[in-house]
Amino acid sequence: MRPPLVIGNWKMHRTASEALALSRSIRKGLSVARQVEVSLAPPFTALGTVRDIIKGSPILLAGQNVYWEPEGAYTGEISAKMLAEIGCAFIIVGHSERRRLFHESDEAIAKKISAALGAGLRPILCIGEAFPQRQKGLTNQVLARQLRRALKGLGKNAIRNIEIAYEPVWAIGTGRNATPDQVGDAHRLIRRTLGHLFDENRAEQTRILYGGSVRPDNAAELAAVDGVNGLLVGGASLKAPDFLRIIRCFIPARR
Ligand code: PGA
Repeated sequence: MRPPLVIGNWKMHRTASEALALSRSIRKGLSVARQVEVSLAPPFTALGTVRDIIKGSPILLAGQNVYWEPEGAYTGEISAKMLAEIGCAFIIVGHSERRRLFHESDEAIAKKISAALGAGLRPILCIGEAFPQRQKGLTNQVLARQLRRALKGLGKNAIRNIEIAYEPVWAIGTGRNATPDQVGDAHRLIRRTLGHLFDENRAEQTRILYGGSVRPDNAAELAAVDGVNGLLVGGASLKAPDFLRIIRCFIPARR
């Protein structure tokens, strides 16, 4: 298993000059963190700036979205090759905000994952149930379906290059995180499903992150859940001290 991964998803926050200051503070505070993989996902316009700031540090760059075609007349879109060349290691795919606000389907998400893998990027596939689905007892069904559809048609080895993020829709940006029990159950189901889709050994090696209202005061508890291999952090990644505290939850000596 690779080290735990903590990724900061800045969403549509921070101009390039603001991103410079934020990534610099994070880099400065991170001298200790070799046991954790850390990644920053700024908006496209700040990728180059953040790349220059984190150069030579263990921090890796991530994109927030990608289009699946290699190039062409797709005004406003960005290809996987463009993201790879600018220095991205990861790409967030299937975030619930994209599914909900931009009508991204599972089929579109599957194409994005293939394109990302083809360009040597590691997709972080986000899946999660909405609150009414949880209330109706459909959580497992929804998660398994999202995984099946997004990962359809991939070879057995592909899962080695993919991370999964369990992000219950009702927990994102609401201040209401999932409980450790809910997270543990979802992560077990996800790993079991990956075992069926690929194979059990590879599923054991896959990093499964939790995301949704992760804050410095709940991160240690969430990081300690069996089967949690990292965190996807939105709002709390916009403040360097908060993000650094979250990262440190994965460094045993500093807990
Ligand atoms: P949040 O966002 O931490 O602000 O809830 C998480 C995410 O959207 O990935």
